[in-house]
Amino acid sequence: MTTNNKELIVKKIENGTVIDHIPADKVFDVVRILGLISLEDEVLIGTNLESKKYGRKGIIKATNKFFDCEEIDKLAIIAPTATLITIKNYEVVEKKSLSIPKEIHKIVKCINPNCVTNVEEIDTQFNVVSEEPLTIQCHYCEKTMTNINFK
Ligand code: CTP
Ligand code: ZN
Repeated sequence: MTTNNKELIVKKIENGTVIDHIPADKVFDVVRILGLISLEDEVLIGTNLESKKYGRKGIIKATNKFFDCEEIDKLAIIAPTATLITIKNYEVVEKKSLSIPKEIHKIVKCINPNCVTNVEEIDTQFNVVSEEPLTIQCHYCEKTMTNINFK
């Protein structure tokens, strides 16, 4: 949709999810870690867009995609400033600010090769001990880590 000779507005989506206010340098991490590359419907990705609040931000619009709890936890860990906007029939039906969960279940791997979660078929579980920089502690082996490895 062209509004004038200088501006091209990114179109609205009919159904799906808009992830707004992503730090500009995290947009492609979000795409990779949420596996958005394998979606079949339209995905619009913008980065280094001007934002009053954040300086430069990224936005992702994923048509016909709605995220589950594990995906939302991953997103909250990568981009805690993001806003998750659910669109149905072109209308905003929900706007959700994210926050880092207190406990992280299943989605992260323990870096300790001897941890029981790496030896047996057990879901991982971590407590968040610090948000900035994000530091988590394994519930099973008590190893703390700042490098988060997603499963
Ligand atoms: N959006 C969309 N498709 C729709 C409706 C909204 O892609 N059918 C997008 C808008 O482009 C915007 C975001 O969803 O990036 C939020 O929409 P809305 O609340 O209408 O916009 P603003 O009021 O500008 O939101 P904010 O001030 O929170 O940025
Ligand atoms: Zn462990």
